[in-house]
Amino acid sequence: MNTPNPILYMAPIQGITNSVYRNIFSQFFNGLDLAVAPFISTSQGKKISRSYIKDVLPENNTGMPVIPQLMSNQGDDFINLAVRLFDLGYDTVNWNLGCPFPMVAKKKRGSGLLPYPERIDSFLSHVIPRIPGQLSIKCRLGRNQDDEIFRLIPVFNQYPLKEVMIHPRTGIQMYEGPVNLDRFEMCLEHIEHPIVYNGDIRCLDDFLVLSNRLKKVDRWMIGRGMLINPFLPEILKKKEDSITGKLKKIKEFHDSLLEQNKAYMSGPAHVLDKMKGFWYYLSQAFQNPDLIFKKIKKTKSIDKFEKIILDFFQDEAVLLI
Ligand SMILES: Cc1cc2nc3c(=O)[nH]c(=O)nc-3n(C[C@H](O)[C@H](O)[C@H](O)COP(=O)(O)O)c2cc1C
Repeated sequence: MNTPNPILYMAPIQGITNSVYRNIFSQFFNGLDLAVAPFISTSQGKKISRSYIKDVLPENNTGMPVIPQLMSNQGDDFINLAVRLFDLGYDTVNWNLGCPFPMVAKKKRGSGLLPYPERIDSFLSHVIPRIPGQLSIKCRLGRNQDDEIFRLIPVFNQYPLKEVMIHPRTGIQMYEGPVNLDRFEMCLEHIEHPIVYNGDIRCLDDFLVLSNRLKKVDRWMIGRGMLINPFLPEILKKKEDSITGKLKKIKEFHDSLLEQNKAYMSGPAHVLDKMKGFWYYLSQAFQNPDLIFKKIKKTKSIDKFEKIILDFFQDEAVLLI
């Protein structure tokens, strides 16, 4: 038996799954239930401007429910930002304990906090009674070792967390190498909160294998697989791929994203950068992905970029998804 009604989360991907992407995604594609927004770092000082939290302002998020994510190791800064977000109407915020980048981790943020259960404990004991809403956590199995999580589970179990999202790699693995499903299953057994599985769901077969094995899981988060194949959430929900007219839909999605980015971002260089990040993943949906991605990467002007895309969709694009 596979999960009858999986709940599907859009993973936060900093630089890509911002509010523009989330809104347009929900206009073109089906299957996602909610999104976790890419992290916002907390900062010292009281006043948090609207522009700082622009990505999660409710008026910029009309497409699907969103959980804002915070990156912090300072309880009071976290509370300050979280309260601002709860005031906007959010009922849950997410704490990032997974970011693997050394620059972040060496400051004991993201996955850099995972080897310190006592610090996580004191953070949670300080923050949870002082926020007017719920907290969820997104984490990995550890920073350096995949058993670090076992010292964290008793800490997590002491607090009323909304859910724990687990990407079953270590921080030092970054995003490569095998996910550790044995360890994930042990987490399932011992964590007394709802658990969201996250990692390497790239096609229906991946999902069927995982959901057959992890029978207790009904919440699934999808990142890169969805950036490459935006039809994936719908396919997972229906447990079949009966979608037609994919190429046309992807082209329309792309054009809409480009237009919105032009309207939303300051200057063509930023728009081009944003579209390059998007194409890093989307190119993998096509035959000869390197060919098109190299062309896009080299482009220095938006006009040239648009011409490349037009030619590509007219003459070359062959979808593999
Ligand atoms: C470029 C990039 C940016 C990411 N940004 C975030 C982020 O802001 N917050 C977060 O919790 N995870 C972030 N992640 C991790 C993803 O949310 C997800 O956990 C990871 O990609 C594994 O899932 P996947 O195999 O479905 O992609 C990022 C991953 C990538 C590749």
